[in-house]
Amino acid sequence: MKIRKAVKELDPYVPGKSQDEIAEEFNLKKEDIIKLGSNENPWGPSKKAIAAIQKEVGEINRYPESDLIELKKEIANYSRVSTDEVIVGGDGADEIIDIIAKVFISPGDEFIVPLPSYMYYEFLFKPYGAVPVYGKWDLKKNKLDLESVLNVITEKTKIIFLCSPNNPTGTLIPQKDIIKVLKATDAVVIVDEAYFEYSEVNNVNLINKYPNVFIMRTMSKVLGLAGMRIGYGLANGEMIEYMHRIKPVFSLTKLSYIAALNTLKDKNYIVESIEKGIESREFLFNKLNKIKSLNVFKSYSNYILVGIEKTGFKASELSKELLKNGIIIRDCTSFKGLDEYWVRVSIGTMKENKKFISIINTILE
Ligand SMILES: Cc1ncc(COP(=O)(O)O)c(C=O)c1O
Repeated sequence: MKIRKAVKELDPYVPGKSQDEIAEEFNLKKEDIIKLGSNENPWGPSKKAIAAIQKEVGEINRYPESDLIELKKEIANYSRVSTDEVIVGGDGADEIIDIIAKVFISPGDEFIVPLPSYMYYEFLFKPYGAVPVYGKWDLKKNKLDLESVLNVITEKTKIIFLCSPNNPTGTLIPQKDIIKVLKATDAVVIVDEAYFEYSEVNNVNLINKYPNVFIMRTMSKVLGLAGMRIGYGLANGEMIEYMHRIKPVFSLTKLSYIAALNTLKDKNYIVESIEKGIESREFLFNKLNKIKSLNVFKSYSNYILVGIEKTGFKASELSKELLKNGIIIRDCTSFKGLDEYWVRVSIGTMKENKKFISIINTILE
């Protein structure tokens, strides 16, 4: 078969395991499994969104909206931009990354990712012939090594990914550092704000000042809609207009559209999700930090990165011990820029957190 070289050479992306997979593998009941592996909202979706979906379900014989006007207005409102500065993606933020690649990447172009970060950027960009160039996070100081990014910018750089808060470190990039990168290049700087609500800061104000900034977001986290696959991007109208030229017109399903719209209108749900999320994170941080063998990172997101080298376990081993007890966390071995001694723990409900803390204490005793 005449498969393209870029596809033949692609390493498969390793996502967190689902509850069904784990239930089968470890002979557990699905409802007993605690999922702390994929940075979701553990309290479930907005009840108003569920009711709206139920009302719409009889209409799925019809094609969905294509121009998404009402949803763009709601997102513009939520983000404090104008509607022509909004694009919505139907496979979550992952579709937005794919559209960016289609608009900006020709084979041989470079993109920069400071490691460790979200591995899907690379997975989506490589099939377009894009070449990854890596900067780095300073894990000792838990901050972006800004020079490591500035030093690798060249004429071939088309896109720079700055994830803030960064997945998996949970760390914010100070806006002054983002500005230094924006000023150093005319490449597009994607500020990935998938988790911005948990940090209570954002970088939307940069859109009016820098034509090369693109803010990327998702409804999979605070907004509780990971299964509906909705993402959005914010940038100056010209960039957004080019992106709309190649975006698949019907990629957002009817039910996803309804879910997004009604969740954004449910302001109480959003406020509560943020408050409970931050409370859960701080609880986990304080409890994990008491375990002497763990290197627990301060997080501004809905997960915590934990170095486990001193425990005597590798990440794969500790994850397996937890799985046997019905708890899914993220073994970070597949993240470039981390060795085999890192795990990431997502926030759970308080009941889930307490069970997790009790089990991890027993395992590490
Ligand atoms: C940093 C970051 N960006 C983007 C995404 C993509 O989210 P989605 O495709 O679910 O919208 C994720 C998902 O985990 C993420 O961690």
